[in-house]
Amino acid sequence: MVAIVKYGIIGVGMMGREHLINLYHLKSEGVSVVCIADPHVPSQKYAQKLAESFNWNLQVFSGHKQLLESGLCDVVVVSTPNMTHYEILMDIINHPKPHHVLVEKPLCTNVSDCKKVITAAKKRSDMLVQVGLEYRYMPPVAKLIDIVKEGALGKVKMVAIREHRFPFLVKVIESITGIASIATLGYSGREMLSFLDLMRLFIGANPVRVMASGAMDLNHKDEEYDGRVPDIIDNAYVIVEFDNGCRGMLDLCMFAEGSKNEQEISVVGDIGKSEALVPESIVRWGTRAEGKNGVQTLLAEDKRIKYDGLHHGSSYLEHLQFLSAVRARGEQAPAVGLHDGLVSVAIGVAAQLSIQKGRSVTIEEVMHEQLVQSTKS
Ligand SMILES: NC(=O)c1ccc[n+]([C@@H]2O[C@H](COP(=O)([O-])OP(=O)(O)OC[C@H]3O[C@@H](n4cnc5c(N)ncnc54)[C@H](O)[C@@H]3O)[C@@H](O)[C@H]2O)c1
Repeated sequence: MVAIVKYGIIGVGMMGREHLINLYHLKSEGVSVVCIADPHVPSQKYAQKLAESFNWNLQVFSGHKQLLESGLCDVVVVSTPNMTHYEILMDIINHPKPHHVLVEKPLCTNVSDCKKVITAAKKRSDMLVQVGLEYRYMPPVAKLIDIVKEGALGKVKMVAIREHRFPFLVKVIESITGIASIATLGYSGREMLSFLDLMRLFIGANPVRVMASGAMDLNHKDEEYDGRVPDIIDNAYVIVEFDNGCRGMLDLCMFAEGSKNEQEISVVGDIGKSEALVPESIVRWGTRAEGKNGVQTLLAEDKRIKYDGLHHGSSYLEHLQFLSAVRARGEQAPAVGLHDGLVSVAIGVAAQLSIQKGRSVTIEEVMHEQLVQSTKS
C-alpha cells in the first residue's frame, strides 16, 4: 500500500476547485485533499460541497497561515489571485514544516518578487516548488514537444503560437483592475505566460529581446468596476528573439469566439515543420523534402487522463507528474521549476513594457531589479 499524500488547497475559486476535482481523480494513486484556505465564505462552501460529494471531509481555514500551522498537509496548491502569490509563497517557504508547493501561474507578478522567492526556496532542499505552466502536458502539445525533441524537424528556427480565444470572464476583470503597472504583469501578460514558456521549451535557448505591439480595442471598454476602467490588452503580437538566433511569435486575440481552435502552435526547423491544434487535438508534421503530400496527421491522446477538466487533461497530468516528483523525495526535480516561472514572467513583463513604451525591450533590462523598482513608482 502506498502512503497517502495529503494535500491542502489555498484559494478555492475556479482553479482551486479544478485542482480539487483533478486530485479526486487521483484518489487511487494515494491522494487525499484534507484542507482548504479561503477567506471568501461562498468559495469555502462550494469547495466543501464538492469535497463532500467525493466523501472527503475538509478542514476549512480562512487564511493560509492557519492552514500551514495546522500541520495537516504535505503538499499545498496555491490558486489564489496573482498578486497574493508572493506573500503566500514566502510564508510557505519560511514555515518550519516543509510543504511541497504547486503554484498557479504566474509565479509572482514581477521579476523582483520571483527572484526573492527563488532565493528563499534555495534554502529549502526539503521542499519542491513547481509552477503551474501546464500547457506542456496537453496531449497535442506534448506530442509536438516529442517531435521536436526527437529531431524530426532538424534545428528549430521559428515558433509561432496563435491563441485566439474568448474574452476574460467578468470575475477576472473585477480582480485585476488597477494591478497592472509597467513592471507588474497584468492579466493579458498572465495569459501569455504558458505560451512564452512553450516557446522557450521548443527553442531550447534563452530569450534576449522582445518586441510587442498590442492594444485594448474591443473588450471591456464600456465597463467600470469601483469607478475604475479596466486597462486590459485584448490583442497583441509579441516577437521574442533567443540567444541561439531563433525567434518566436505569439499572436494573442481575446475577441475570437468564432475560432475552431483556441491554440494553433507551429514549429519550423531546417528539415521540417509540425503543428498542434487545441482543442481539436490534431498534430501534423512534414518535411521540406517530401512537401505537402508527405504531411502526416494524427489525433493526439493520452490514455492516462482520467479527467479532462477545463484544460484538456493537462491539469490531471500535471498533478500526476508532480505527485511522482513528491514521492521521489528529492530525486526528481519539478517539471516546471522556479527558474522557468521567473523567465516566463520576465518575457511577459518585457512584452508589456514593449507595448507601453513602443520599443523593443531586452530581458536583461527587465531582469535588472533597479529598473523594476523605478518603473513601479
Ligand atoms: N493554469 C491556468 O490555465 C489558469 C487558468 C485560470 C487561472 N489561473 C490562475 O489561478 C489563480 C486563481 O485564478 P482563479 O481563476 O481560480 O481565480 P478566482 O477568483 O476564481 O479564485 C480565487 C480564490 O482565491 C481566494 N483568495 C483570495 N485571496 C486569498 C488569500 N489570500 N488566501 C486564500 N484564498 C484567497 C478568493 O476568495 C477566491 O475564492 C490565478 O493565479 C490565475 O492566474 C490559471
